[in-house]
Amino acid sequence: MTRIGLYPGSFDPPTKGHEDLIRRSFSLCDRLIVAVAVNGAKEPLFSPEERVAMLRTVVGEEPKVELRTFDGLLADFASEVGAAVIIRGLRAVSDFEYEFQMALMNRQLHPGLETVFLVAAVDLTYLSSSLVREIARLGGDVGDFVHPTVSTALRERFAP
Ligand code: PNS
Repeated sequence: MTRIGLYPGSFDPPTKGHEDLIRRSFSLCDRLIVAVAVNGAKEPLFSPEERVAMLRTVVGEEPKVELRTFDGLLADFASEVGAAVIIRGLRAVSDFEYEFQMALMNRQLHPGLETVFLVAAVDLTYLSSSLVREIARLGGDVGDFVHPTVSTALRERFAP
């Protein structure tokens, strides 16, 4: 039986933290669906299609990974794609409350749907898409935090 893992998020934009989580997830499933939430952020910087394109570059040719967008409830999407487990990253204690609430709610909505938390690489624990966006918006260098393609996309998005 193929074990499908679902790694959902806003990925606005994808960071090296996301990349790390995607690679760590490989050992947990046979197939990994990385799913960009269409309605995740209120005013996303990048369109869902742009985020998927960036993720494609970041992940590279990896036959185990499928990139998707999803609209609506994550629990419904997980059912639709037959995911056995949702994978989320935990960076700090501050992530815990929100993640705990989401995991419980998703299991309530779709009994049997489990969430597995992976601990981010220690040198990436401080990283978030919102910080990366802010640094890029203010003209800072985000080269250490994102793939070069993402860095270029951010520079172009905030070009005067
Ligand atoms: O990267 P993020 O922004 O932390 O990801 C959050 C995301 C997109 C996984 C979450 O907002 C989500 O699942 N959105 C889909 C709508 C949904 O199912 N909401 C109820 C969650 S219990």
